Amino acid sequence: MANIYEEAYLRSLEDPEGFWTDAARGIDWYTSWDTVLDSSNPPYYRWFTGAECNTCYNAIDRHVIAGRANQPAIIYDSPVTGNTIKTYTYSDLLDQVSRGAGVLKGRGIRKGDRVIIYMPMVPEAVISMLACARIGAIHSVVFGGFAPSELAVRIDDAKPKAIISATCGIEVTRVINYMPLLNDAIDLARHKPETCIIVARPEATAQLKEGRDIDWTSAMANAEPAGCVKVAATDPLYILYTSGTTGQPKGVVRDNGGHMVALKWSMKNIYDVDPGDVYWAASDIGWVVGHSYIVYAPLLHGCTSILFEGKPVGTPDAGAFWRVISQHKVKSLFTAPTAFRAIKREDPDGRLLASYDVSECKSLFLAGERLDPDTLRWAEEKLGLPVIDHWWQTETGWSIASNCLGLHAFDIKPGSPTKAVPGWDVQVLGENGLPVAAGEIGAIVVKLPMPPSSLLTLWGNDDLFREKYLNQFPGCYSTADAGMIDEEGYIYIMARTDDIINVAGHRLSTGGMEEVLAEHPDVAECAVIGVADQLKGQLPVGFLVLNSGTSKDGQEIIEEVVKMVRDRIGAVAAFRQAVIIDRLPKTRSGKILRGTMQKIADSEDYKVPATIDDPEILEEIDIALQSIGYSSGIY
Ligand code: COA
Ligand code: AMP
Repeated sequence: MANIYEEAYLRSLEDPEGFWTDAARGIDWYTSWDTVLDSSNPPYYRWFTGAECNTCYNAIDRHVIAGRANQPAIIYDSPVTGNTIKTYTYSDLLDQVSRGAGVLKGRGIRKGDRVIIYMPMVPEAVISMLACARIGAIHSVVFGGFAPSELAVRIDDAKPKAIISATCGIEVTRVINYMPLLNDAIDLARHKPETCIIVARPEATAQLKEGRDIDWTSAMANAEPAGCVKVAATDPLYILYTSGTTGQPKGVVRDNGGHMVALKWSMKNIYDVDPGDVYWAASDIGWVVGHSYIVYAPLLHGCTSILFEGKPVGTPDAGAFWRVISQHKVKSLFTAPTAFRAIKREDPDGRLLASYDVSECKSLFLAGERLDPDTLRWAEEKLGLPVIDHWWQTETGWSIASNCLGLHAFDIKPGSPTKAVPGWDVQVLGENGLPVAAGEIGAIVVKLPMPPSSLLTLWGNDDLFREKYLNQFPGCYSTADAGMIDEEGYIYIMARTDDIINVAGHRLSTGGMEEVLAEHPDVAECAVIGVADQLKGQLPVGFLVLNSGTSKDGQEIIEEVVKMVRDRIGAVAAFRQAVIIDRLPKTRSGKILRGTMQKIADSEDYKVPATIDDPEILEEIDIALQSIGYSSGIY
């Protein structure tokens, strides 16, 4: 007999409209839909066409009306600011978000206008996102670790009417003044926002620009609270830029209706949490995990969400996560494997855990990068909880594969995020576009139409959307992950098929870094690969071929390119290592053999490609990598 998961999965593929109609009952609508799944314009599919709704209403107002006014909605826990803890009940959040929406309205922002949010992990960031949703403005949150030029690219693409920012972000050892970064970005961008709203933090002051900038606190104090604006279910809620196959980021567009339905459904069925429970996604609002599971999903479900401004280690120690879990009675934690690798490295025996009562916590979910079996076992052993690897992408907005704890808990197979989540028709295709046999590796795709909450398109670029995701395998969405599905339906994610690397769970493009290196006047050619790293999963390493006749010292050039990447992409790229070589290994047709270089760096077995131009270069690559501590010299 089929278990509940199997029944749900089958129904979601055979009767998607019925399945998601049932899930949509978890959301309040102003007007019901004409069509559940609108397939009239493939490959563009839309969910709940004709319906009207408001995401902010569903995340806050309705809970206040239904009796949750005094329940904490957000608990802001900030060890980096001297252990600040501030609780916002649903009623507090309603007040703040209505005022925030009033501030935006007062600056002329209306439905469909874009607002960029460039903020650290402070409550005002969440309030800003929800304030945009309240009036139908489209927010685009930019992660605070990105440099001004990255912010400028996003400003030019999204063309925001306003930017909301703060005077600073706080890292473990330093305060980062945001205003110079914001000013630089606006100077660099062709598009100029009319208004910047600045949250003044006590850790840094800033000179506001007359006529452009306003102070958050005084604007909020004088604001007329604004109500929810009806939007179409298919209207965009947000744009979230993610790394693509070049330095040009892609603006993933998410809708209102489908997004709410899928996220609300996921809270019980995947994470097995109930309204009123405390849920913690230890990520950053700048990433999709932060959008979906710090802000929207827990609030849509009536949970209490933790907003943590700290790190797994160093704030103050590797017991920080256990402290937060015990202090706030967290029922389910979601973070990236890197966070656990960092904790394990500092406290391998888990001694700090003994000082805290974490018994309220029932599950740990990990995503964003491969979960290595060592970390999985360590977390299982130390916490004594189900440790669930689940796989998803910025583009999908929620998980494609997971052990759905609220439906049926399957046995865990290390290395696999378990099975496809209901709604996702996951298949593995060979180069000929046909499904491969169970256990064989191929390109992982999702058959169209995808379930609610997956991306609608790329902002302002339908062509790129089709080119990047839909053209390679007609009728399917290409995930750009390669892997396999075993006989029991367990999915294994093995590698990206493009240039994306995952550094500390942060998605980065090596192509973007190569574009920066290539701009150095002494660099003739370059390549960047991601090499395996015990803490961060992967780290970028650059290979530089210098112009002949350059008189500069090689080490000096390396230091310069390292600085260039930090300045142009941001500290988050963690680009610290490069080597100088005579030539890059290439095929006879001129394609750089990045895959082979990566295998050498990771001391993996590899075949010398038959098409290689000059096999002897591989030895030089090996020696160069050994000089910076990679490769065991297997060449
Ligand atoms: N604003 C400004 N700078 C930031 C930043 C932010 N929001 N986030 C990170 N940075 C900086 C860091 O300070 C660091 O700077 P440095 O080079 O001067 O040291 C650099 O970017 C690299 O950051 P990171 O890769 O995160 O390394 P780290 O050594 O600071 O921390 C971990 C390592 C493992 C503790 C950290 O990556 C972590 O907590 N990871 C959890 C994973 C996660 O949240 N993933 C999100 C997706 S689920
Ligand atoms: P992002 O868009 O930042 O969420 O990154 C998405 C990419 O991260 C995926 O395409 C995968 O390559 C990788 N990823 C996310 N979750 C997992 C996982 N559980 N296992 C392996 N890789 C993952």
